[in-house]
Amino acid sequence: MPKRYLVNFDLGDLERVETGFLVIGSGIAGLYTAHAASSYWEDIVVLTKRGIDDTATEHAQGGIAAAVGPNDSPLYHYEDTLAAGAGLCDPTAVEILVTEGPARVEELIRLGARFDRADGRLDLTREGAHTRRRILHAMGDATGAEIQRVLSETVRANPKIKVLENHFLVDLLVTKGICWGALALDHQEGKLKAYLAPVVVLATGGAGQIYQHTTNPEVVTGDGIAAAYRAGAEVMDLEFVQFHPTVLLLEGAPRFLISEAVRGEGGILLNAQGERFMPRYHPMAELAPRDVVVRAILKELERTGSRVVYLSLEHLNPEQVHARFPTISQRLKAYGLDLARDRIPVAPAAHYFMGGVKTGFHGETSLQGLYACGEVACPGVHGANRLASNSLLDGLVFGGRIVEHAKRVRPEKVFSKAEAKGEGLIPGPPIDYARLKLELKELMQTHVGPVRCRKGLEEALKALAQWETLNNYEATSLEEMEFKNMLEVAYLVAEAALMRTESRGGHYRSDYPEPRPRWQRHLIFRRQV
Ligand code: SIN
Repeated sequence: MPKRYLVNFDLGDLERVETGFLVIGSGIAGLYTAHAASSYWEDIVVLTKRGIDDTATEHAQGGIAAAVGPNDSPLYHYEDTLAAGAGLCDPTAVEILVTEGPARVEELIRLGARFDRADGRLDLTREGAHTRRRILHAMGDATGAEIQRVLSETVRANPKIKVLENHFLVDLLVTKGICWGALALDHQEGKLKAYLAPVVVLATGGAGQIYQHTTNPEVVTGDGIAAAYRAGAEVMDLEFVQFHPTVLLLEGAPRFLISEAVRGEGGILLNAQGERFMPRYHPMAELAPRDVVVRAILKELERTGSRVVYLSLEHLNPEQVHARFPTISQRLKAYGLDLARDRIPVAPAAHYFMGGVKTGFHGETSLQGLYACGEVACPGVHGANRLASNSLLDGLVFGGRIVEHAKRVRPEKVFSKAEAKGEGLIPGPPIDYARLKLELKELMQTHVGPVRCRKGLEEALKALAQWETLNNYEATSLEEMEFKNMLEVAYLVAEAALMRTESRGGHYRSDYPEPRPRWQRHLIFRRQV
């Protein structure tokens, strides 16, 4: 059981910053929420762990899904999202996503997002489990970078919004079920500060870094999920982790996402013997839902004894391939690979958390005043398996809804005289937390990865429990705080995965390989505070 706080503190001793609307995180969900809030609030603060663009959004390649094409409709998008979600999507949340999504995307375009066009019309692509071409993309395969650029510029130009970089969320301040602020470590000044606000929005992203192989940038260490859990918020669906099927696996190269859009445009998968295998596994072949493609790849790896399968575009026009995927082409070139001519070695890696802080349809959490949106949140919109390119859309739609809710509710200013203390943590010995992070990541990859079983999960939980005593120590560095957050999230994921004795979506148990009707429900955890 984690302690309530990562550090000892007395609010009376800390610098206090009071604001009307506090956003934590600067990816699409956080920045869009801040932008939307500026129509109603004059003083908005955005805290972000490193630079404003140091986000998972910045790295998103494939695109943003929205039913804007001539032969598409929100209904088709709804059906595809529910089918991918494997029986666990909340239908109302999905309906909200697909019906409100197109207008939010229009707004992004009005703000200056330059999505790719062909003959003046939006050029839409396909990705896995979409029955229509509905993925908007920018600069070929740099959609996230374009959205991040637009939102970062929009927010920076807005005098009502102050962005504070290098501010790490340490803990949430909560009294009697009401959240009224956050403790943040300004790690440039090396100072703990208190940011007090009647509206606090978590938009800190997921927790991909708990795995050895991940597409997520280093900042994604589950800080928001862990802080919310320590503060007593409900968290849900944490066993559902999506692994992306095609991540570059090459000696000496960092893991690098090879967008699903590459398969959407005709790329095929070959095993180590050069055989195309996906048609044997699913009628949609390479464009089957991600969990299906991941497990098919793992089976082929086992069968052939190889570490990788290959993505091949050899049958496509090379000029068109390079023009359509300039970022991926460039990156591969640096490793001596030609996307159009070479077989690209790939393997699955952790990509997206379907679960997170449980929210309602307006991002409201189980703590009054605390909202969550984007990957840190779980409104049930992705169910057990997210449909590709629905996550950027989710950040926009539910971020916008938070503002609608908060302006209606206008929580009272409860913070002015508030006091809080964290105490009882003891000084710890010197510990190499960077090394512990690597050990944790390896453990999670081995036992809580895309294929799980009771024995492995129990081993993982036993190993994680050995680190529990570290929670008695007062955290003194960012590395230590990140490790403790990763540990907490890893524990929740492993525990939920052990409890769910079935396979569904992103959660696959080799000892329970089928879905079971009695498990068509959610696992919700809450720490007793
Ligand atoms: C990709 O480009 O394959 C990632 C898209 C997503 O995860 O939604």
